[in-house]
Amino acid sequence: MQVFTFERGENMLSLHEYESRIDRPVMMKIPEFNRENRLKHILFSSQMDKMMIDMLCRTALKIKHISSTKPGSDYLLSLLSHKRAMLYFTQVSTRTFMSFMAASQILGIKCNEIRDQNLSSEFKGESPLDSIRMFSSYFDVIIMRSKTPNFAEACAYLMNDLDQFNQRSVPIINAGAGADEHPTQALLDIFTLQRTFGFTSKKDSSKWNYYRELKKNHPDLTKGLNDKVYGFCGDLRRGRTVRSLVNLLSLYENISVAFISPDSEDFRFPEEEIKRLEHRGVTVYEYFSLDEAIDKVDMLYMTRIQKEYDKPDQSKNYDELIGEFILTPERAERLKTYCPILHPFPRNEEIPFEIDSNPRAMYFRQARNGMWVRAALIAHLFDVESQIANYYQDKFSEYHNYNMEAI
Ligand code: CP
Repeated sequence: MQVFTFERGENMLSLHEYESRIDRPVMMKIPEFNRENRLKHILFSSQMDKMMIDMLCRTALKIKHISSTKPGSDYLLSLLSHKRAMLYFTQVSTRTFMSFMAASQILGIKCNEIRDQNLSSEFKGESPLDSIRMFSSYFDVIIMRSKTPNFAEACAYLMNDLDQFNQRSVPIINAGAGADEHPTQALLDIFTLQRTFGFTSKKDSSKWNYYRELKKNHPDLTKGLNDKVYGFCGDLRRGRTVRSLVNLLSLYENISVAFISPDSEDFRFPEEEIKRLEHRGVTVYEYFSLDEAIDKVDMLYMTRIQKEYDKPDQSKNYDELIGEFILTPERAERLKTYCPILHPFPRNEEIPFEIDSNPRAMYFRQARNGMWVRAALIAHLFDVESQIANYYQDKFSEYHNYNMEAI
């Protein structure tokens, strides 16, 4: 059995109480985190099926459009102005923290934050589980990122137990824990891919159509996420975003995944997870240089070497290793014309700044999409999606001819 611990100054405290529940296969736990086909807590990407993903992405798109006008923005602000969120981020973050904050603000939620345990009473020895229970007294949702594997999950069990005894209990959102999972990142990545593989362009007109043009050179190209080869490059063993995204991609039809990493157990996507993907019907390729794979993929998802998870005995000589996995401008030109370049960020040297002006570069748009998707997730947790849909229908659909068909 694994030992689940979290750091508290010099001390290590065990999550013994939750070990047996944490140790179960994910699929066994999911019913405890969902409620009547809805999310109750957000912990794993596997909690979302294709129908839920599509529904959340549609809500995200509606929120994006509604918030583009002042009356729409004011309407969204009114929806959850009676709610408060705690952002408990004791592991570093820029995008996830900021986009959850912005998403909450879009819906009128008031936010508070703890980013350093030493500025809370944990410095005086309070257990993080006690902290979470205290937050649940003051706030209506807890959004958390922790170094400690399974800590968000343990907090969700704590909330479920409180609920059983009719005590106050609030939703827990895993905003990326340790090297485990990053479910909300996976959803924003899917949203970005849906938008990209809708193949619409601002230049589309009755005479010119982007998708029709693409089909001239790529006759087999389909709209949407089915029938694609998804390339993932870099540190695939320790990147939580890759694990969560391939899990969601495996829900789509006729997809292949190309894992591109140094030929080392330290970086390759784990063997047992490859077997699981193959079992679900995904075709998996492995490449040990980016050059070999670059012209074969329909999407390229770059990741950085996650040096912060290095074991003491792990090779630190990355300079030699990484050369094969840098997306140089020359390599980027070999990508298919429509192939989006994604990256969860932060980036290091694997995507040079020159790539930012390449029309395939989607990573800044991807990061902004995080705000819409996280707003949709929060709207779902508080059950205000139908209000958003009704407002959109009443006030927006007649003014905007947005293409939602790819979703
Ligand atoms: N993508 C992502 O999780 O970024 P942050 O670590 O900055 O939140």
